[in-house]
Amino acid sequence: MVKLFVNTKKKIGHINKEIYGHFSEHLGRCIYEGVYVGENSEIPNTNGMRNDVVKVLKDMKIPVLRWPGGCFADEYHWRDGIGPKENRKKMINTHWGGVVEDNSFGTHEFMELCEQLECKSYINGNMGSGTVQEMSEWVEYLTYDGVSPMADLRAKNGHPEPWKVDYFGVGNENWGCGGNMTPEYYANEYRRYQTYVRNYNSKAPIYKVACGPNNDDYEWTKVVLETTHKNAPPHTHGFMNGLSLHYYTVPRTWQQKGSATDFDEKEYYMTLSKTLYMDTLIKRHGAIMDQFDPDNKIGLIIDEWGTWYDVEPGTNPGFLFQQNTMRDALVAGINLNLFNKHCNRVKMANIAQLANVLQSVILTEGDKMVLTPTYHVFHMYQHHQDAELLESSIDSVNIGLEEEYQVPNLLESTSMDKDGKIHITLTNLSLTDSYEIDGIFTEASVKSVKGTILTNDMKAHNTFEDPDKVHPVEFSKYQVTEKGLQFTIPACSVLHLEVEI
Ligand code: AHR
Repeated sequence: MVKLFVNTKKKIGHINKEIYGHFSEHLGRCIYEGVYVGENSEIPNTNGMRNDVVKVLKDMKIPVLRWPGGCFADEYHWRDGIGPKENRKKMINTHWGGVVEDNSFGTHEFMELCEQLECKSYINGNMGSGTVQEMSEWVEYLTYDGVSPMADLRAKNGHPEPWKVDYFGVGNENWGCGGNMTPEYYANEYRRYQTYVRNYNSKAPIYKVACGPNNDDYEWTKVVLETTHKNAPPHTHGFMNGLSLHYYTVPRTWQQKGSATDFDEKEYYMTLSKTLYMDTLIKRHGAIMDQFDPDNKIGLIIDEWGTWYDVEPGTNPGFLFQQNTMRDALVAGINLNLFNKHCNRVKMANIAQLANVLQSVILTEGDKMVLTPTYHVFHMYQHHQDAELLESSIDSVNIGLEEEYQVPNLLESTSMDKDGKIHITLTNLSLTDSYEIDGIFTEASVKSVKGTILTNDMKAHNTFEDPDKVHPVEFSKYQVTEKGLQFTIPACSVLHLEVEI
């Protein structure tokens, strides 16, 4: 039997609910069609937002949403997206498919969406092609309560009350699509731009996110932190609250990424092994952050993560539309368990992207909507939001078909929620083996257990014809023991157990 230890007496960190965050960009059919259909659409909507989509996102307890990009953010000029819709500027979305962006979804619509979702807002400012004045005025427009040119303009556009902006990103991927900057140049510009991201509401200060590294670019992390900390008053932590990290799981290569649905067992393990690289990235970037910020005041913000495959055959290559299988459920389960385990440094994470783009939780086609296996994992893991991470471990062994792409068979994380209930989320990466688990809880006896499991063939996915092929079911095959509980986890599965002690 495999031993799973849970120390119910040792809380080792707070799991910010924002770890379960999402990302929505003006890319393909993410915003338009995926979320926003406009007030005049026949698809049931409230002020243009799809009712079906809003409902399932609320059921999943979406905690925070990032917008408007991505690469789009550094080409986005917020003034194009305010005021009467018929007067809004049309532009070409050069990054993503060269389609016309009519700006009908702008600042007011995004803030309305967050209100409907009851989630926090994460706005990404334009540093690549925007000015300091433009960024500063956007913050004024969004948050200033009083008489000012931007607050007056907001009122004229129908929203006299200021909004609360929770998170603000100063640029996106400025080492690449956001201006091809060097780390020194970005860091100095960051110091300047962030100065004008004013906290007009001192009771609700904006959490500022600086652009962090691409994958394993440790030099970027080091130089940005060095430069932003130079002569900075210690309490400012280099003028930032968070530093971003982007890492995507690409099974093969960027040129030929691999299919979302047509893959073999080797590619399955390769994908999971590449996903696990996230652990190394968090540890290594975290170690550099420790040198500047030993008290974890700066959050590592993993605001883009997920699988990136070749687009579905016959779809616009610039739209990044891909299907989502049981393999993606494992990728989500692995990453979310890792973020939980690193919750003392990882303060927010945003899967890319919300609907119809990359590893989405939702796919839409006209008025139809499908929940992906990834959605179900987010739904099952929601209990970790704002819970306390418990010390826990599992005796795993390495498995896989190739030496290079070995993965641990089992991965877990465990938390205690505010009602004292314990939540264990466990992934079984093996395609062939189920495992008998002996769960041992220190100084606690189990009163009751509720379980939910997601398991299927690695390639199984939901389609508009068969939307429920992969769905979670109740898991009741456990036995309460003197020391905890025993159960068998099937191959290729994600399990959530809620345990009352
Ligand atoms: O999520 C798709 C793109 O990936 C984003 O626009 C960009 O930030 C990243 O390269």
